[in-house]
Amino acid sequence: MNSAASTWLPVSQVISRNLSVFEASSSLLVVNAPEIGVWQQWSADTVLHFFSQDFRVHSELRLAGFQSHFAAVVNELPDNADVLLYWPKSKELARMLLSMLLSHMETGRQLWIVGEHQEGVKSAAKILLEDHEIELSKLDNARRCTLYRVTVDRAFPVFDIETWLHYSSVVLDDTELQVVSLPGVFSLGELDEGTALLLPNMKLPEQGRVLDFGCGAGIIGAVAKRRNPQLDVELIDVSALALESAKRTLAQNGIEALVYPSNAWSDIEGRFKVVLSNPPFHTGIKTDYRAVTELIAQARKKIVYDGWLEVVANAHLPYEGWLQEQFKRVAVVAETTKFKVYSARG
Ligand SMILES: C[S@@+](CC[C@H](N)C(=O)[O-])C[C@H]1O[C@@H](n2cnc3c(N)ncnc32)[C@H](O)[C@@H]1O
Repeated sequence: MNSAASTWLPVSQVISRNLSVFEASSSLLVVNAPEIGVWQQWSADTVLHFFSQDFRVHSELRLAGFQSHFAAVVNELPDNADVLLYWPKSKELARMLLSMLLSHMETGRQLWIVGEHQEGVKSAAKILLEDHEIELSKLDNARRCTLYRVTVDRAFPVFDIETWLHYSSVVLDDTELQVVSLPGVFSLGELDEGTALLLPNMKLPEQGRVLDFGCGAGIIGAVAKRRNPQLDVELIDVSALALESAKRTLAQNGIEALVYPSNAWSDIEGRFKVVLSNPPFHTGIKTDYRAVTELIAQARKKIVYDGWLEVVANAHLPYEGWLQEQFKRVAVVAETTKFKVYSARG
C-alpha cells in the first residue's frame, strides 16, 4: 500500500486492491464516493465520471479536476458506462439508488457495489434479489468491507422519484406543516426531538435574512417563513436529497424561500439577522463535528451586530463551551433532559 492509502477509508482501500477490475471499463460512473481517495491516483484509460449526492465531496472532486455531477437523481448515464455504487447507511436509500441506476443501465454493463459491513452492505444480496430478481457475485472481502458485482441482464423499469417521497405532517401550536422527505434525509417521516424543542422556542426577527443551516427536509426554515412571511429565509444543506426534500416541503406548503447547496458556509454570501440550526454531528454512522465547528467558528462573522444564532443540540454535546468561545452572551432558552436550545449573540 502506498503512504497516502493508509489514510484512506476502508472502502477506498478495498477499491485500491481491485483497481484492475475497473480498468477494463471504457467509462465508469462512480456514485457517492465518500472521498476522492484512490481516484486521485487513477491512471487507466477508462473515462471517470462522478455522481455525488454530497456537496462536500462533489466540490472536492471538481476542485481536483474531475467531472462530477451533484443532484438527488441520476437522469441519464454517460454512454457505455459501467457503475460503481458506494453503499449508503440507509437501506431505503440503497433501494432507491439501485432502482435509479438499474433503470438507466444497458444490458451487459457491470454494476459494482462496495461498502462497509457496519453500514449494511451485506444486505445488498437480499435487496437485489427481492427488488430486482438479480443475483450478485462477491469479488472481495477485506477491511470489514465487501465488493460485489452484478451483470445487468435486461432492461429495468423507468425510475420515478415520486414513488420514493415520504409525506408526513408536523402539527405545532400555531401551524401545521406537510413535510416531504426522500430516503436518506434526516429524521425521515418524523419530527426529530431536538427540532421539536427548537421550533416553539425560536426567536424570529421582524424582518431580515434568516438562515436554516443544515435544513434537512426544510422544517425549520419553512416554519420560520410561515410564522413571519416578511423574512427572507434561506435554507442550505450539503445533501442533494435534503435540498430536493426541502424544496418539495416548501412547495407543498405554498412557502417561498431560497434553497441551495453549501458545505457549511462555503457557498453562503453576506450576513444574516438570525441563523437557526439543528446542526449535524454525524456523517453516515460516524461522529463528525466538522460542520458544527465550522458553523460556530464562523457564525459571528456571518451575523449582523444585533443578530443571533440559535441552535439545538443533545445536552451532552460540548456546544455551550464552543459558543462561549465565540460569543459574548450565550443563554440556554429551553431544555429537556436530552436537548438544549442555545441562543448566542454579541
Ligand atoms: C441534524 S440534521 C437537521 C435537519 C433539519 N434541520 C431538521 O431539523 O430536521 C443536520 C443536517 O445538516 C446537514 N449537513 C451535514 N453536514 C453539513 C455541512 N457540512 N454543511 C451543511 N449541511 C450539512 C445534513 O445533511 C442534515 O440534513
